[in-house]
Amino acid sequence: MARHGREIWIGGTTTDVVQESAHRIVAHLHRQLAHHERASMVLAGGNTPRSLYERLTEFEEVAWDRVDFFFGDERFVPEDHPDANVRMARETLLDPLHIPAAHVFAIPTHVSPQEAAAGYEHTLRQLYQTGRLTWDVVLLGMGTDGHTASLFPYGSWTTTTEESWCMPVWNAPKPPPTRITLTPAALNHAQLAVVLATGKEKAAAVSAALESDASPSEIPIRALAPSHGQVLWLLDEAAACALTQTLG
Ligand code: 6PG
Repeated sequence: MARHGREIWIGGTTTDVVQESAHRIVAHLHRQLAHHERASMVLAGGNTPRSLYERLTEFEEVAWDRVDFFFGDERFVPEDHPDANVRMARETLLDPLHIPAAHVFAIPTHVSPQEAAAGYEHTLRQLYQTGRLTWDVVLLGMGTDGHTASLFPYGSWTTTTEESWCMPVWNAPKPPPTRITLTPAALNHAQLAVVLATGKEKAAAVSAALESDASPSEIPIRALAPSHGQVLWLLDEAAACALTQTLG
């Protein structure tokens, strides 16, 4: 099912979703690397991307040494903590692919949350201005409440007036409570935003995200609307089971 700027792909199982997402991401990075010296990918946390990262390491034909990696959000824990998104990404993707440290732009967590967000925003803006950050692939998960990255329903991101790209989050409903997140203003630079959702427990959120008139404050992933890119939703049948046939 596709409409301008959005495609929804539904596979039978989680394995199908992992397979399809890996192929789509690899194809997109290939196209970028055919015309540009560097490509970039923003990684997601949570459990869903784990198998995808492992699958991506099998695509040895990609010039992974020309890809820069960023993070859509980070839990505010030390980077070697078992809950750290960067640790999961290192173990499943970055270390197996031998990605040089200089190509991994982790969100810092050794300073205060405000400093971490300001520092990461500064890094992103500098790289963006020099053309090194191209936002080729932005990978996102979604929670059962419709959150994505660490943009939670009715969080302070919904009332901020400045056009910030990165901000601290306090009192997140999903532990740990303190996090750092990219904002919709940043995520919406994506050329290809890939949203992964699997399992029956995500069905109501998928339906609210794709078929309701809910505000982005209520269902944060509805703030995802890349100005020049596409959103690709990859769902398994369980996550898609509440969708209607008229979706397009
Ligand atoms: C995190 C996230 C978060 C995650 C969703 C889905 O740090 O927790 O980046 O946005 O992607 O909560 O998580 P699951 O894949 O574990 O359901």
